[in-house]
Formats: sequence, structure tokens, C-alpha cells
Amino acid sequence: MLNDSFLPTISAPSEPARSAKDFLQAKLEGRKLSMVTCYDYTFARLLAASGVDGILVGDSVAMVMHGHPSTVTANMDMMRIHTEAVARGAGGKFIVADMPFLSFRKGVPAALDAAQVLMSAGANAVKLEGVDGHEDVVERMVQSGIPVMGHVGLQPQSVQVYGGYRVQGRSEETAREIARQADTLQQLGAFAVVLECIPAKLAGEITAALRIPTIGIGAGAGCDGQILVLQDLLGMNTGHRPKFARTFSEGAHAVAEAVANFDEAVKAGTFPAAKESY
Ligand code: KIV
Repeated sequence: MLNDSFLPTISAPSEPARSAKDFLQAKLEGRKLSMVTCYDYTFARLLAASGVDGILVGDSVAMVMHGHPSTVTANMDMMRIHTEAVARGAGGKFIVADMPFLSFRKGVPAALDAAQVLMSAGANAVKLEGVDGHEDVVERMVQSGIPVMGHVGLQPQSVQVYGGYRVQGRSEETAREIARQADTLQQLGAFAVVLECIPAKLAGEITAALRIPTIGIGAGAGCDGQILVLQDLLGMNTGHRPKFARTFSEGAHAVAEAVANFDEAVKAGTFPAAKESY
């Protein structure tokens, strides 16, 4: 297990964000924001020592950690358990937790109850996909002291409607719809909005039009910040890699090599050595 001496001391170029207000300030100052997903204590401890501005306990946990084919099967139990684990390790990093499929579509009281579970688990903010039909939920959350991050463009919880994961907003009409939804979220008091898988030009236009920061994933360089799934950026994903998911490490290779070395050492009788024995 980790101990503090193991943690790297890579200094961040600037003070990372600590609150929703810091996100807005970063936009005002033209500072880019970085976010990554995280679902567990060990990685949260490593991220605590990094310069990233925020951690998202994404509902992608259902796919990345539980092997489900989509995020539709994420539920409140799953989100609560992973949010608690991340919060134990995150050392004060700003944590956003995803509201899972339908948890914010059953009226304001049910949505507030669900948000309360995530905030009590250690989240500093919640993220909801879309806005049409739950404007009242977003508004009441904001009025109740819950920072809300929006999410427009590709909304993975709607994968059954799309029939797959596809770039959204390619036509004039759908582009206008996405821009309108982002603007509505700003008007309702969201502190930031994720733009997922939309053309870079559209993301740039939305970013220029909003006072709140945009956090892009597959939405080009014109956003105010970027987010990636941690396992994608670490190169742990050996399956399909979306075009936007740059790998910053060869994680899968590192794991395979380490496990092969362990296996070889056990079978050669060189592990454990005397100094590793009691
Ligand atoms: O759940 C998730 O990982 C997300 C990001 C892709 C933004 O919502």
C-alpha cells in the first residue's frame, strides 16, 4: 500500500482550484483547468499530490471499474461508495460526483435526496447530463448550496437514443441546440459545463459566449479546460481508444511487465528474498 514517501512531489505550475468559485476565477484570468476522473482511494492519493484542478467521480465508473457496457447501469450505491473512497484519498482536491442515470429525473425532492447522498459522501459538487426537462432540479440545487456542473453534447446516459457513441452537434440545428443548453445551464447557475464530443469550432463558440468555464472532452482546444478518464490517459485501456483520448503513459504495458516480472521471480524462486522475509 501507499505511504507518503512514495508520493511524487511534482509541483503544479499554478495553485489548483479548490472550489467552484476558483473555476470561475480561472476563466476570468484565462487560466486553463484540468480535470481527471477517479474512482478509488489509491489513485485519489496520487492525484492529491498533482496539480489537477478537480477530480470527477464519473458514472463512467460503471464501465471502467465494473465492466458494464455503458454508464446507464451506474446507480446511487455505486456512486456513493466510489465517491467516499475518492474523498478519503483526495486530500482536499475539488471533487465532482456524477448524478447517475435517472437520479435527477424523478422530481426535485428525489434529486435533492440523491445529491445529498453524494455531497455527504464527500463530493463538493455534482454533475448532471443535459438540462431540458430538469431545469427546476438544477435551479433548486444551486439555490440549496450545491455547485452544479452541466454536461452537454454527447450525453453517454442517452446512448440508447443515439444508438452508439457519436459526435454531436455536426448540423447547424443540433449545434444551436447544444449552445442553447449550455447557455440555459449558465442562466440556471451552473458553475461550469462539460462539452463532450462536439466539433472544436462549436465548442470554441460556446466557450466564447459563456461566462462559466467549459471543460472539454473530445471538444477541441478552445475549451477553458480539459477532462480525461484517468485510465485512458494512463494508457490502461487496451480496447478501443477514442481519437480524443491521448495516452500520456503506457500503463497497460507497465502493468503487464511488472506482473510478468513477479510471476517469473516467484517461479524462479528469487522472490521473496531473505530481506523480504521475517
Ligand atoms: O463519467 C465520466 O467519465 C464523464 C466524463 C467523460 C466527462 O462524465
